[in-house]
Amino acid sequence: MKKFNFFIASILFSGMFLISSCGDNEPDVTITYYGEKEYKELSKHINIPEFPYDYSFSLPKHTFLTSTPMNDDLATLGRVLFYDKNLSKDKTISCASCHKQEIAFSDDVAFSEGVQNRATARNSIALGSVLNFAAYYGNFGGVPFFWDNRATSVQDQSRATLGNPREMDMQMHEVADAVNGLDYYKPLIKQAYKGSGDLSETQILNAIGEFVNSITNYNTKFDRELDKQWQTYGSSGNNVAREFSGFSASENNGKKLYLQHCANCHGSNSARPPVMKANNGLMMQYDDLGVASNTGQSQDESMFKVPTLRNISRTAPYMHNGMFKTLKDVINHYSEGIKNHKNLSSDLKTDSYPKIMNFSETEKEDLIAFLKTLNDEKVINDPKFSDPFQK
Ligand code: HEC
Ligand code: HEC
Repeated sequence: MKKFNFFIASILFSGMFLISSCGDNEPDVTITYYGEKEYKELSKHINIPEFPYDYSFSLPKHTFLTSTPMNDDLATLGRVLFYDKNLSKDKTISCASCHKQEIAFSDDVAFSEGVQNRATARNSIALGSVLNFAAYYGNFGGVPFFWDNRATSVQDQSRATLGNPREMDMQMHEVADAVNGLDYYKPLIKQAYKGSGDLSETQILNAIGEFVNSITNYNTKFDRELDKQWQTYGSSGNNVAREFSGFSASENNGKKLYLQHCANCHGSNSARPPVMKANNGLMMQYDDLGVASNTGQSQDESMFKVPTLRNISRTAPYMHNGMFKTLKDVINHYSEGIKNHKNLSSDLKTDSYPKIMNFSETEKEDLIAFLKTLNDEKVINDPKFSDPFQK
């Protein structure tokens, strides 16, 4: 709508211009969305299109989540904030330092490096299912983020991350001062908040939230195949359990094993994990209390958020502490390495003992082949999510 209005406005404007300058040479004026002067100034620092990208998206039919309109101006502002190192104490770290687009907004080390070379306490979490988690868990009145579920919105999460001394180490008022002191934000703020004043702390967090929430990972072979089933059979029957015609035999067998052993926690359509927290028996004794470090409840001890498996082949190392380097290591763990922690989930037990799945080598390969069908090919290259800063 906004673009349409602008389009009309520019036609009217150029029309008026033509009338008033009748007979003159073509005037050397380009009208831009941000204003010509402003856009020039902006372009010295950041590389963003003259019109904002479209951040709205629609999800596959099988998710039951319909199209999601996003505010493009807010997301554009959020994108710049996400990549801006000025938001950290020593100006060396941005959100993207630990959430790298090319690896699905995760990090490739067990513990990421924050300001002053400090290490994070846990493994970075891939972004891409954030809104989807929100839409789902929102029904239950709380949206858990982080490995210990301690944040209830991206705004909460971002405030915690910005303030975390191991990560960006900036109080929100310091963040606001930094942002409001940088000229390249002015035109972006003007579009996003229809004013030219300074940004409040909440407005900054909302812009980051809009950008992060617009990152999705549903452009996958798995989703296309599952939607094909929906087209053929409607919502009746167990669509995900049917053989997918576009899958190889190995992928189909991996899907079968996944539905049997993994879906209870990670979700049968791999979109929305049905449980928020679980212990999956990584060790007998953890030095991280997990959800209990947030709730103080002993039944939550060393329970962790059940993460999304979308883009999983790109986001090694794995688990809250990055203890597994490869997907093969993860599968080996579930196959024959589960430990009998006192809070081990009953889904991973046979009677009162850890389940031994005992996958053959071929089955392990099949599971990995299936997990790779959950890779989104678009999100890791999409320019609208990329680093806008001029190098
Ligand atoms: C120094 C590394 C680092 C930086 C910088 C960083 N993160 Fe994170 N991020 C992490 C780690 C580590 C976790 C998991 C922490 C935990 O669970 O305790 C995480 C978790 C998250 C989550 C939770 C995802 C989920 O599904 O639960 C979101 C969202 C997120 N970060 C977004 C951001 C944003 C936005 C910024 C910038 C404002 C940011 N991060 C900056 C390392 C970082
Ligand atoms: C009882 C619930 C449960 C079941 C069943 C389960 N998982 Fe998990 N999974 C988890 C939890 C919880 C974590 C995070 C644990 C942690 O970091 O301490 C996890 C983590 C993972 C990770 C690492 C994700 C990341 O981002 O680091 C992968 C990969 C994974 N599981 C794959 C599988 C596969 C494959 C199966 C089936 C063979 C399976 N899971 C079965 C609960 C479960």
